[in-house]
Amino acid sequence: MDAVCAALGDRLAEKIAARESLIGIIGLGYVGLPLAAAVAGSGFRILGFDVAEDKVENFNQGLSNIGSVSSETLTEMVRRKRFQATADFLRLDEPDIILICVPTPLNAHREPDLSYIVSSAGAISRRLRPGQLVVLESTTYPGTTEEVMRPILEESGLQSGRDFFLAFSPEREDPGNPQYKTSGIPKVVGADSEQALRLACAFYDGFVPRVIPVSTAATAEAVKLMENIFRSVNIALVNELKHVYDRMGINIWEVIEAAKTKPFGFMPFYPGPGLGGHCIPIDPFYLTWKA
Ligand SMILES: NC(=O)c1ccc[n+]([C@@H]2O[C@H](COP(=O)([O-])OP(=O)(O)OC[C@H]3O[C@@H](n4cnc5c(N)ncnc54)[C@H](O)[C@@H]3O)[C@@H](O)[C@H]2O)c1
Repeated sequence: MDAVCAALGDRLAEKIAARESLIGIIGLGYVGLPLAAAVAGSGFRILGFDVAEDKVENFNQGLSNIGSVSSETLTEMVRRKRFQATADFLRLDEPDIILICVPTPLNAHREPDLSYIVSSAGAISRRLRPGQLVVLESTTYPGTTEEVMRPILEESGLQSGRDFFLAFSPEREDPGNPQYKTSGIPKVVGADSEQALRLACAFYDGFVPRVIPVSTAATAEAVKLMENIFRSVNIALVNELKHVYDRMGINIWEVIEAAKTKPFGFMPFYPGPGLGGHCIPIDPFYLTWKA
């Protein structure tokens, strides 16, 4: 690591510790807005970016459209100047840390649609300045941060690990679950340089109960896919078992209640019409496409 890079990292670390760094969040949806609330709650200021101008206008008036962030909370964040939303992506040079929470759907061929990540990376690249930390939080296949994000960001002429810092930290938000808020869920972090990992961990450490560093960004991407595929497979399994047991005259709910008394090797999943959220059935396709 050269002296300039070390100095850029040390400066950002100092700003994080003093809560002086401005945090940019791109994509203010089910993930981005609760994340903004958690980050604001730990003393940082947030500049939120979204392409939906009506949302931006509402958020700046303290009007939330996300259940887990009340309009009272948002109003207070705006009043205390902890939060401002904008659709002006030329302002991406202002934040010290940029978190990307844009959608990652499938296209018509059930293949990963990274267009939102690509356009966000392009917008950042056009305004990238030395010393910024960029963290991708959207769910995606292993390799996206290194193989897709990094080259676009480096079109700026700046180099990751030397001039700016790049990391991946999957979002584990569970909308509608009052038991777990963003600030109560441990965060996994992987990065493409030691310095980026150190900085990203220092940032998240300020507002989540535990940070788990892993060796690469691709590992962190794989962690998220494993979590969601695990859920997807088990939801499918319990729905299948429901049909089988129904035909046998056995009550699946009674079976699950009894099975979950096993203290190891079993985790209850419950049958139902939902599939665990809109991401769960999508994410396995991200892995199969890459694999
Ligand atoms: N919703 C969940 O429960 C959940 C949980 C964990 C991870 N994730 C992942 O987090 C990511 C975001 O999901 P979400 O549920 O918050 O999506 P969302 O649709 O609720 O929100 C996305 C936001 O991004 C905005 N947006 C779209 N394109 C943009 C662009 N180019 N620049 C800036 N803003 C843009 C949209 O207007 C919207 O406000 C996805 O990768 C998803 O898989 C979601």
